[in-house]
Amino acid sequence: MSSVSVFGAQWGDEGKGKIIDLLSSDVDYVVRYQGGANAGHTVVVSGEKYVLHLIPSGILHPGRVNVIGNGVAVDPAKLLEEIDGLRERGVEVTSQNLRLSANAQVIFEHHRLMDRYAERWRGDGRIGTTGRGIGPSYADKASRTGLRVGDLLEPDHCALRLKAALAEKNAVMEKVHGESVLDYDSQLATYLALGERLAPFVGDVAAEVRRAYREGKRVLFEGAQGVMLDIDHGTYPFVTSSNTGTNGIPAGAGFPAKQIEKAYGIAKAYCTRVGEGPFPTEQEGAIGKRIRDAGNEYGATTGRPRRCGWFDAVAVRYGIELCGADGLVLTNLDVLSGFEELSVATHYKVAGETREDYPADLVDLGRVEVVYETRPGWNDDLTAMRKYDDLPLLAREYVEWLESLIGVPIVLLSVGPDREQVIPRGI
Ligand code: IMP
Repeated sequence: MSSVSVFGAQWGDEGKGKIIDLLSSDVDYVVRYQGGANAGHTVVVSGEKYVLHLIPSGILHPGRVNVIGNGVAVDPAKLLEEIDGLRERGVEVTSQNLRLSANAQVIFEHHRLMDRYAERWRGDGRIGTTGRGIGPSYADKASRTGLRVGDLLEPDHCALRLKAALAEKNAVMEKVHGESVLDYDSQLATYLALGERLAPFVGDVAAEVRRAYREGKRVLFEGAQGVMLDIDHGTYPFVTSSNTGTNGIPAGAGFPAKQIEKAYGIAKAYCTRVGEGPFPTEQEGAIGKRIRDAGNEYGATTGRPRRCGWFDAVAVRYGIELCGADGLVLTNLDVLSGFEELSVATHYKVAGETREDYPADLVDLGRVEVVYETRPGWNDDLTAMRKYDDLPLLAREYVEWLESLIGVPIVLLSVGPDREQVIPRGI
């Protein structure tokens, strides 16, 4: 298998960082194709914790080429901070193992500010964004007023484009939001300096990845966020601003759709969501709190407590189908130890009518009635188990039950944060 897509099959935070880190040992390239520093991919190696926001998780494996594709929204200061932080901890980051698309959109300071101001205007309809400037930067991309990484390397060109962009943003910040404006000269100087530091990493990375694939190199596409946060197919408008699943790869990495050979979704054994928006299986009371405490469910990027609930087989089935996934990786199975009973959403009811399929046409997902089935849980601690047959019978029955509900095999189980804490089942 020379090209594989790994994506979040829920609302993000499914534990992708760890799984991609694990799969990175078998590939040559790891490619990010969407999102930005709103992502927080946590990887624990021998007890050492790394949280990656923009750099692909393959960076922790020497010899892998890590690519930030054109579809990523890049905050240059955040990227350099991440590079410096990794280097300080002895991780090698060079222009050989980190490549950055010249065509990736830049996130400027005005994007971060506008992200916050826009939320204020939304009032009760706020999205609960990460405040990283993601939406405003992608909006400028679509309206063709944004700047790309390559623009930062051309001072005259950058000066012209930034002048026009900032003039408009300053007017909005001042007149619409009643906020102070940004100084053009200092913004230009700041971003040109950042561009100069990033220059060694910059290139036509889409062509590099296509060439590598042609030459037989193995490429892994690392999704950020999850399918339910996809701008087209998620719970709009409570979504992020990019195509988060396998569907984002052709545009966001310049890689042909028909050359994506395998796809795997990643889902927790339960469900979480950060930010606002519908979450059908959410448990607000004691069960939600218990899952949050057991799973330490706090955002890797913002530290916000995550909303927690039962596994939603309707939503995961949808993500699997949408991305044509061949299998699912199930993470955090260990967190469910100690629950007397485990519930799973098997289908929804909409206006009294049973829906097996996710109702993507429904304006307000909050209106669905969730139909649960409940099975007994197990007490054993799973964190030291490494073979499927070591798992207690009730845990295996839970896994196989989910498998029958989602319609694809569960190919790998994760039973703790460390790289070693996995149980292979066919990947
Ligand atoms: P934005 O991507 O910062 O614009 O945020 C939009 C929505 O997506 C908010 O509800 C965020 O909490 C959510 N979101 C963005 N990135 C992530 C992520 O990496 N994990 C989980 N939720 C995310």
